[in-house]
Amino acid sequence: AKVEPLKIMISGAPASGKGTQCELITKKYGLVHIAAGDLLRAEVSAGSKNGMLAREYMEKGQLVPNEIVVMMVKERLSQPDSQEKGWLLDGYPRSSSQATALKKFGFQPDLFILLEVPEDILVERVVGRRLDPVTGKIYHLKYSPPETEEIAARLTQRFDDTEEKVKLRLQTHHQNVEAVLSMYEDITIKVDGSVGKEDVFAQIEVALTNLLEQRKSAMGSL
Ligand code: AP5
Repeated sequence: AKVEPLKIMISGAPASGKGTQCELITKKYGLVHIAAGDLLRAEVSAGSKNGMLAREYMEKGQLVPNEIVVMMVKERLSQPDSQEKGWLLDGYPRSSSQATALKKFGFQPDLFILLEVPEDILVERVVGRRLDPVTGKIYHLKYSPPETEEIAARLTQRFDDTEEKVKLRLQTHHQNVEAVLSMYEDITIKVDGSVGKEDVFAQIEVALTNLLEQRKSAMGSL
């Protein structure tokens, strides 16, 4: 029999490194990365009605209404690839109502990863973040600079990545984080996200390896 695919949630303040860790996790464990922020930005770029509405909230660093976010995430989680390979959900849920909605649809994570990073570091990470529109890769001008001049020339910045906007995003995060955490207390691991990205990943790897080992031995004893 096959080992059940992993179902993971990753959470943390704006720019705590969720997207960066998701790149490393998917590369090693082959999970499907589903980022609520990326799904929303795709709608914004497409200029859809939902996208136009979502942008108004994102500009203010507020949560986009559940009517838009919940079904978007649910549909992506229900796709065959997420079901077969397992999923890594990034930036969702951000409120207890979003967590409850997901549970109602039958999506329960095995592990909830919380990245902890002090606030002064977060602002520096946001302001220096750049994205490669061709590969989708996340860079930082200081901590993770582009590999070539060609990549450097095409990097873009997110519309909500200013010092002023990240402060609003942080406020929203603080208002909601406790309620979400309390729903996943028994499966939460807290990770020190302030160290280098490979050292952050090493902490996550320990937790994921343990989880997979437990699964395998549980199957072996059947
Ligand atoms: P979203 O896109 O999820 O943004 P966020 O939570 O603010 O998180 P970020 O994407 O900014 O950061 P990250 O943690 O992924 O960090 P990254 O790896 O890039 O949401 C945007 C908006 O959409 C929200 O404000 C809201 O309006 C809306 N939204 C999203 N989800 C929603 C939901 N569920 N409900 C309602 N509304 C929702 O790293 C940041 C930078 O730091 C990079 O430059 C990176 O290179 C660098 N870096 C990363 N790790 C390290 C390290 N260890 N050391 C040094 N540098 C590092």
